[in-house]
Amino acid sequence: MTAVARTRSALEAARAGWAAAGESVAVVMTMGALHAGHAELIRQARDGDQRIIVTDFLNPLQFAPGEDLDKYPRTFAADLELCTEEGVDLLFAPAPSEVYPAGDPIVRVAAGPVGDVLEGEARPGHFDGVLTVVAKLLHLTAPHRAYFGQKDAQQLWLIKQMVTDLDLPAEVVEVPTVRDDDGLALSSRNIYLVDADRDQALTLHRALEAGESAAVNGATAVVEAAQAQLTASGVRSDYVVLVDPENFTAMNGPGPAILLVAAHVGSTRLIDNVRLHVGSSEK
Ligand code: PAF
Repeated sequence: MTAVARTRSALEAARAGWAAAGESVAVVMTMGALHAGHAELIRQARDGDQRIIVTDFLNPLQFAPGEDLDKYPRTFAADLELCTEEGVDLLFAPAPSEVYPAGDPIVRVAAGPVGDVLEGEARPGHFDGVLTVVAKLLHLTAPHRAYFGQKDAQQLWLIKQMVTDLDLPAEVVEVPTVRDDDGLALSSRNIYLVDADRDQALTLHRALEAGESAAVNGATAVVEAAQAQLTASGVRSDYVVLVDPENFTAMNGPGPAILLVAAHVGSTRLIDNVRLHVGSSEK
């Protein structure tokens, strides 16, 4: 059974034992509501012959007033079961008062310009909240490696950049998006989708596939093909954009790229992305 730590001191005790034994440590950070995408992150970590900590912390700092913090799914018993099945050593599930003992932190990590566009534009302050908690959890768990999914491409880019810019001593490992058989990218928020939304939600994946198929014809063709799929299905998009994986800014030319989509399905806002190579059919 996976051990549960609710406090910093319980986490530190486990961490110190592993350090004394010279063992490597991996962390998988989550906000709970674990699904097969999280299980894949854990499996990738398990391949590394290392102790695995999963953090389960619904970080209030990354939710703006009026967002879904209050209704975000809370499934601790099932999360613990998944961790046990996947061989996780420790589930760190602190209360907000344990992570932020003095209340909301006055000093935070600033995500910079990439934090203000796309998801950052739709959710002002979101990435400062994400990076602040990720930095804190990296300090508290002191892992050798930290595993994050490509599903949240902008978050992943910002975390990697923070680790580089602030010399944080952890290796960030990227894990490809896990999809349902029909192509829907797994997300804890998929629980909000009612049956009628499901088909529309699949349009995001279809849009990415259409973009991928058009890659050989250039950047404009990619974006137009993806947007056409969304429009044809009556799905309202927030953005359909190609970015350069190196600097996460819009790209028009040939080369490796990430095609990003954000769209509204029912009352749920979904994001998805795919890596492709503009000007060629290779990925
Ligand atoms: O991706 C998430 O679940 C969260 O943003 C993270 C990285 C656990 C920080 O709260």
